[in-house]
Amino acid sequence: MSQHESQHPKKAFLRALSGECLSPPPFWLMRQAGRYLPEYRQVRAGCNGFLDLCYTPEKATEVTLQPLRRYGFDAAILFSDILVIPDALGQPVAFKEGEGPKLNPIRDAAGLAKLSKDGLKTHLAPVFETVSRLSKAIPETTALIGFAGAPWTVATYMVEGAGSKEFVETKKLAYSQPNVFKALIDLLVDATGDYLITQIDHGAEVIQLFDSWAGVLPEEEFSKWVIEPTRQLVERIKAERPGIPVIGFPRGAGALLLPFVERTGVDAVSLDTSVPLAWAAKNIQPKVTVQGNLDPVMLIAGGEALDRAIDHVLETLGKGPFIFNLGHGILPSTPPENVARLADRVKGRV
Ligand code: CP3
Repeated sequence: MSQHESQHPKKAFLRALSGECLSPPPFWLMRQAGRYLPEYRQVRAGCNGFLDLCYTPEKATEVTLQPLRRYGFDAAILFSDILVIPDALGQPVAFKEGEGPKLNPIRDAAGLAKLSKDGLKTHLAPVFETVSRLSKAIPETTALIGFAGAPWTVATYMVEGAGSKEFVETKKLAYSQPNVFKALIDLLVDATGDYLITQIDHGAEVIQLFDSWAGVLPEEEFSKWVIEPTRQLVERIKAERPGIPVIGFPRGAGALLLPFVERTGVDAVSLDTSVPLAWAAKNIQPKVTVQGNLDPVMLIAGGEALDRAIDHVLETLGKGPFIFNLGHGILPSTPPENVARLADRVKGRV
């Protein structure tokens, strides 16, 4: 590789993450693999539950590649789930059809004491195997994203025992027994760090941290349970595997997005659908690359509304370092042809 090339990696996705402004911008979509694709549903039907799919490298590799074949995304994201971490720590996770995840909740020091990261790497070996396979299978211009849930969001599932609207149990534990909650977060920082470093060693080129429920905390608690654990993970990745960019996704952070960016050290931030574009262009983009933030429901609506919304995102964020994405994951009822339309429009073909 020439000097010039080594300074400017040829994958557009990595160039955007290192601060280059590209036109057209690189793009991928959160949950780009999944139920909206008939070929995903076919593989899924042959699995003994959702986690079986995550833990079967051949199938997980196949469903990761499916959306790349259709749409030519600039990045592939490892097919797995954020809840493999509690599963690997000794808190088994079940995905019940149509009900979402179920776990036996952890709400005190005794419950916490039952968890251990001793078996983590063995339990997650199939996920690492998927990363290795992907790193060989993806096109050479496509980047491979590894990921994990951020500690706060993973902790909400561990404490609630399921998805939640109000997060009463998790907040109650964090507010009334901060030492117990901190021990849980510390364990997650430690285990998630091991998990991400091992993904990198198997070929992940970028890391995204999903903090889907970051937006439910007040300022001081946001600082303790969202910013601080993320900062620690970024610091560890930068120290142990320098050069691997980290994308943060503190969904719903609102005005706390700015301190999140300033204090965590992330290389890029994924903007949820509610973030005003002109505000982000002025206040966030001068500091880090931004990714986002089309409303996933626009992809269901399609037509003129979709075209206009795509153009608005491109016009407002396209002048700085930018990766086109959604503001949250693709919904299962999304028509695949609307994703094709999006791909063509982002790449300037229609
Ligand atoms: O983006 C990708 O294509 C990679 C795979 C991926 C999945 N989940 C696959 C999945 C990623 C990156 C995730 C992240 C994830 N998982 C998050 C953070 C992002 C977000 O959406 O906010 C969260 C909160 C989870 C937890 C989770 N996983 C829930 C609550 C559910 C059930 C709800 C649902 O959508 O069904 C899942 C299941 C899940 N994870 C599916 C997929 C494709 C659907 C499962 C199925 O096929 O039956």
